[in-house]
Amino acid sequence: MIKIAPSIFAGNFTQLGSEVKDIESAGADMLHIDIMDGNFVPNISLGPLVVSWLRPETSIVFDVHLMINEPGRFAPEFKKAGADIITFHLESDCNPHQLIKDLRKMGTKVGISIKPQTHAQELFPYLDAIDMVLVMTVEPGFSGQSFMDLRPKIRKVRQECIRRRIDMDIQVDGGISSRNADLITEAGANVIVAGSAIFSQPDYKTAIKEIRDHAEKGMHNE
Ligand code: DX5
Ligand code: ZN
Repeated sequence: MIKIAPSIFAGNFTQLGSEVKDIESAGADMLHIDIMDGNFVPNISLGPLVVSWLRPETSIVFDVHLMINEPGRFAPEFKKAGADIITFHLESDCNPHQLIKDLRKMGTKVGISIKPQTHAQELFPYLDAIDMVLVMTVEPGFSGQSFMDLRPKIRKVRQECIRRRIDMDIQVDGGISSRNADLITEAGANVIVAGSAIFSQPDYKTAIKEIRDHAEKGMHNE
């Protein structure tokens, strides 16, 4: 039920291959891969070529978070590189209904992300057509920022999904650690992205377990 998605953006880029293998054997459920274009967000991370190099290193699910403009133009490259889930931003220059269709045709799962200022209701027209919602709890662009408490927004999305009987993955990304993982799952999220909280620790397995334990506690308080 709870899925932990470590964000490789916080990993050691001089040894990405072994980082990915280590995170898989440490018990991660998926690998969150942050793609930034220096345009939609004020930072640049990596492109499809690097994703394709990582693909043979692991069989873990690749959860690709596109923080880029023209996501429709680049999505096929990321699919080819090995993306299993592609999440695009509602605020980027795209036609969401068309892009959802195109991603489905390509054979990826589809996520839509919203920045902290975007209201939950903006997602509602797409909820029946997607697999995952990503609620950002920092302004996208950098790892290691502090968590913005947007629990009311997470709750709104979960309640609307329950009302429509949609079994949605609700992912939260930005500033998450074992200190706040329970608050997020209590509000209705079930997929937790964590970058610095995992990669800054010497033992990834312990770090993942700690976040998972707290997240599960929150789920039971629902
Ligand atoms: C921010 C990225 C996040 C970030 C998470 O733009 O989307 O995935 O890397 O890092 P932490 O957990 O350190 O906030
Ligand atoms: Zn992300």
